[in-house]
Amino acid sequence: MAVSAEKPTNAVFEFRNVSKSYKMGEATVYALDGVDVRVETGEFLAILGPSGSGKSTLMHIMGCMDQPTEGEVVLDGTMVSTIPKRKLAGIRRSKIGFVFQSFNLLPKLSVLENVMLPLIYGYTSRTEARRRASEVLDTVGLADRVRHMPSQLSGGQRQRVAIARALVNDPRVILADEPTGNLDTESARRVLQLFEDLHQRGRTIVLVTHDPRVADVAKRTIVVEDGKISESGELSRFVEPVKSGEGGAS
Ligand SMILES: Nc1ncnc2c1ncn2[C@@H]1O[C@H](COP(=O)(O)OP(=O)(O)O)[C@@H](O)[C@H]1O
Ligand SMILES: [Mg+2]
Repeated sequence: MAVSAEKPTNAVFEFRNVSKSYKMGEATVYALDGVDVRVETGEFLAILGPSGSGKSTLMHIMGCMDQPTEGEVVLDGTMVSTIPKRKLAGIRRSKIGFVFQSFNLLPKLSVLENVMLPLIYGYTSRTEARRRASEVLDTVGLADRVRHMPSQLSGGQRQRVAIARALVNDPRVILADEPTGNLDTESARRVLQLFEDLHQRGRTIVLVTHDPRVADVAKRTIVVEDGKISESGELSRFVEPVKSGEGGAS
């Protein structure tokens, strides 16, 4: 089994029978339960599911912020499910760009400094970091806001700064966990358009959401329910109750 991980592959991620469980007293809670998923280079994939279905757990394992209790995870040819925890952070920094629902910008740093940060943690000179940060801020349409502080920006602009920060390392993949969850409709539309543009330019993007309309921008959607994945064939089963106003996924 482990040998196949050494094969050259074009997949960014390969999850094989991945589970994540927590012992809660006598009971065992499965946040993920036997997940198989493959993400190809250049894909724009949405992971859709109701609250509590295991989306963030899946995202944290993809982002090398967590490891599974069972199964194998291969990121860009490296088996990350079993490597020592101390090595995970380095892999995360070099391969993953993460975008959070709550932006997670540092309030005391300017827009430019926030975006420079991942490079400063590496071994890039300040001059080079400044140049690259300016470049990605231009990409996200914020060239005229580099000296602003995060508090001086709208939610949509803050999220675009966060996307610039995720891009600055030129990561293998951008992971976004409910990136439009705190945004008004128009800002959400712009942020999704930006992901769409990045995808057109060849970026690999995995976006997690509980909202089928957000998942719609992706080229492929997989549904997660109770820690299990069902391919898009079962998508309608999830979408229907939302449309009929039953809600559930808030
Ligand atoms: N640290 C933890 N300990 C116990 N249960 C957890 C933990 N993290 C997540 N879970 C459980 O796993 C399930 C999936 O959680 P999560 O991945 O956050 O779902 P989602 O992001 O889809 O809302 C939930 O039922 C949650 O309660
Ligand atoms: Mg979540």
